[in-house]
Order: sequence, then C-alpha cells, then structure tokens
Amino acid sequence: MIDWMRWHRNNPDPSGRGGRLGNISMEELMDHNKEDDVWMALNGRVYNVTPYMEYHPGGVEELMKGAGTDATDLFNQVHKWVNYETMLKRCCVGFLTSTSTTSAAANPHRSSSNPTGEIKIASTNFSSSSLYSPSQYSWCQKSDTVIISVTTHNARIVKSHHIIIDKNGLNVIMHIIINDYVFIIDIIILSPTSVVDDVDVIFKKVNVGRCWSVLGTSNDGDAWWGPFNVADLRYRKCKIVGKIQLTHDTNMFTIELPRDTRFLVPIGCHAFIQLVVDDDEIEVSCTYTGLNFELTYLQKLATKYDQVILLAAGTGLTPMIGVVRHYHRLVVRNTTMHLLSFNKTERDIILRDELGSFARKNKWFTVSHILSSPSDNWNGQTGRITKDIIMSAIKKDNLVGGELTNNQCLFCICGSKAFSNTAEGLLKEVGITDDQMYVFAD
Ligand code: HEM
Repeated sequence: MIDWMRWHRNNPDPSGRGGRLGNISMEELMDHNKEDDVWMALNGRVYNVTPYMEYHPGGVEELMKGAGTDATDLFNQVHKWVNYETMLKRCCVGFLTSTSTTSAAANPHRSSSNPTGEIKIASTNFSSSSLYSPSQYSWCQKSDTVIISVTTHNARIVKSHHIIIDKNGLNVIMHIIINDYVFIIDIIILSPTSVVDDVDVIFKKVNVGRCWSVLGTSNDGDAWWGPFNVADLRYRKCKIVGKIQLTHDTNMFTIELPRDTRFLVPIGCHAFIQLVVDDDEIEVSCTYTGLNFELTYLQKLATKYDQVILLAAGTGLTPMIGVVRHYHRLVVRNTTMHLLSFNKTERDIILRDELGSFARKNKWFTVSHILSSPSDNWNGQTGRITKDIIMSAIKKDNLVGGELTNNQCLFCICGSKAFSNTAEGLLKEVGITDDQMYVFAD
C-alpha cells in the first residue's frame, strides 16, 4: 500500500492523460480491458488502473475481473471498505456517461435551504430509495436541555452508532449515517451547551432556564439527506494514546477523540485513518475492537442458545474480541463460547498468547487456531473452513450420531466477503438456520 501510494503521489502522470478528465462512454470504457491497458468505472468515475495492477493485494487476475466494466458492485462485494478514491485519485480519467444504478450514488441530493433561516423542523426531499431514510428532524427543550430527534419513514431506527456529533463552540454538525446514506444537520445553535448524550442527542444548556425561541441558524443549507459520498468524509484530529504490536503486520492503537466529538464505530465496521509515514500522507481503514451497543442485540440472541461459535478469518478477529469481552463482563453466563480463528501462518495469528491464557482461566471459553499455510512445526489444525471443522466445534450435547439435533448453537462470522460466504454456505449445509447466524458486515 505504502509503495503504491508513493508511486501514485510521485509519478507525474498516473492517469496517462495528463490529469484531463473527460466524459467516457460505456463503449470507450469497454475498449480498455487488456492487462496492459485497464480502465474501470467505480461509482460513476472512470480510473486507469493499469499502473495499480502489480500493487493490487488481491492480484492481477482478480483486478482483471472488473477490467473495462462498471465494477462498482463487484468492488463492493469484495472490499467495500477499501478507500479507492484516495488510492486512485490521480488515476481518474473522467466520468462514465451511461451510468448504472449504483453509480447514481455519485450525485447526492441536497434539500432546498430553509427560507426563514430558522430551523424548527427541516424536511428533506429525498428519493425514497432507502427504507431507512430519515424524513425530518425536530427539537424540543426543557429548562436545562435541548433534544434533537431524527425520525424516519417507518420507525425510530436511528441508533447511537449511526450518529456522529462534532461540536465546536456553537457550531454543531451531526452526521447520521445509515446504510450508505447520510443525513447531515449543520447548524449554529442559539446558545452554549455541552453534549451529554449521544443516543437521543441531548444538549445540556449552559444557561439553565433560558428559553430558546429557535434551535439556531442554518450553517450550510440546513439539513440534507443523500447517498453517502467520499466528499462527506470528515476527519477529526485525534491523539494516539496507546499502541500495541499484535503481529508482524497488525498493530492495535488506542485513539482519543477531540473533547466534543461523539463517534461510535459500529462493530465489524471500519474507520478511515489518515497519517503521515515517511513524509507520505496515507490513508488506511481500521477495524474496531471495543464494546458497543450491537452486542446488546447479540446478547439477547445468545440467551436463546447454549453455545456461541465465533468464526473469524484474519483481522475478522477484531469484532470477536468485543464479543468475548462482553461475555466476560456478564454476571450470569449460561453459554459456552468457542472461537475458531483462521489464518495463513503462525505469525499472522492475532493475540494468540492472550487468547490462550484467557481460555485457561475461563472454562466457558475455548479457542482453536486453524492455519492454511503452517510451518512444519505446527501441530494444530490445518486447512480452510470445512464442514468437519464446524461440526467438530459443536458441543457433543447438540449432536447425535455426528448430526446436529437441535438449534442450540449461534454462529458469528467475520472475515473477507469470500470467507463469510463460504462459512454461511457450509453452515446451511449442516442445518444451521438464518436466525442462528450473525454475520458482521461492514
Ligand atoms: C473490481 C475489481 C476488483 C476485484 C475483483 C478485487 C479483488 C480483490 C481480492 C479477491 C482481494 C483479496 C481479498 C482477501 O484476501 O480477503 C483484494 C484485496 C484488495 N484490493 Fe481489490 N479487487 C478489485 C479492485 C480493486 C481496486 C480498484 C482497488 C483499489 C484501488 C483494490 C484494492 C485492494 C486492496 C487495498 C486490497 C487489500 C484489502 C484488505 O486487505 O483489506 N481492489 N481485492
């Protein structure tokens, strides 16, 4: 990645067109489908990916699957979290003119601004393409607090992890991000407050008792709702307060957010981090290992089962750490937990010693490591995920004659899309139902 970013930054003409952007028809795009000349459309933009071929971690053959096509869907299926916009910024050759449905995401709709400049209820005029579209926000006040609520078409589905709040003095920006869509409220609030709760978005008035006649004034065309676009990405200056090297290529960082920022990374999701390495500005997407509310849902689910089996591939282990930590905190645990951690080699195993010693101290938890390319010294399990490996993890009480007899197991899956698809397929084959599976999606 660093090698590519360096090449990309320093090459005088990565797009091969001197940086000129044009309108590109589907026919023209299709002409660029040979290994020495590959264009690819992603979300309405066309990129010359020829120079990136040799740097692609998934290999040339994989990248060629999208050659000369609108590869948006394919790209999202494999690794939606990859920040191609930054990586291919200088390889862009133009805009696809005959766009597919997915590339419509490049044109977010902005609602008209509030003519009075006062915001009491701002309605947006979005297309109803998502079930989860917030339709409006409203606010109310008590003598000491101001509460902003965002409501949606069908029900109140806005959860704390959907909302990011940045407050700087009277400037308040709220991003509500749900399923690739974003609802942005950008206002200058009337009077000083401090943020006290990010679930219901409650602001505590500094001047208690003062009655607000309006919430504030619009900062940027008031609220709007539209497809999430990279232009909406907002970076916050954070402090790294801890770093632990987990494996040869994986580090765990503890990051402190600015004082008035509320930000929860949903479990299994990624956060973009920009940093400077050897004078190069690079961007990486990182997973999150902490606890958060989604586990409440998982906990509710798990009370129905007597065994939870965690299937993790590579860094797919990160959300599982949150799950294990959560279970560890529960006072009453009726469930046993078995973690199957899939990696290539010994040196890729994250937290091997820690997980081993945790398992020795906690009878309810067991861990198995399965390696696809182990060294000769490895005497543990080998190979990739199979039905046999899954069956061997299930408690004997839940099996009769090697067959699953009941629905007492819950499976949580996290890894690449390919891993998750394979795991889901195998689980279905051994009789696991959809409600016994929880796939951590991005
Ligand atoms: C649309 C055609 C593409 C296909 C079919 C494809 C396929 C793949 C595959 C199979 C992997 C390996 C995943 C794994 O081992 O779990 C991969 C990794 C990767 N690809 Fe692609 N890729 C495509 C386009 C791109 C593009 C356009 C970029 C960026 C400019 C990109 C950047 C990456 C990166 C950074 C990784 C490593 C991701 C990680 O480790 O999380 N790929 N790709």
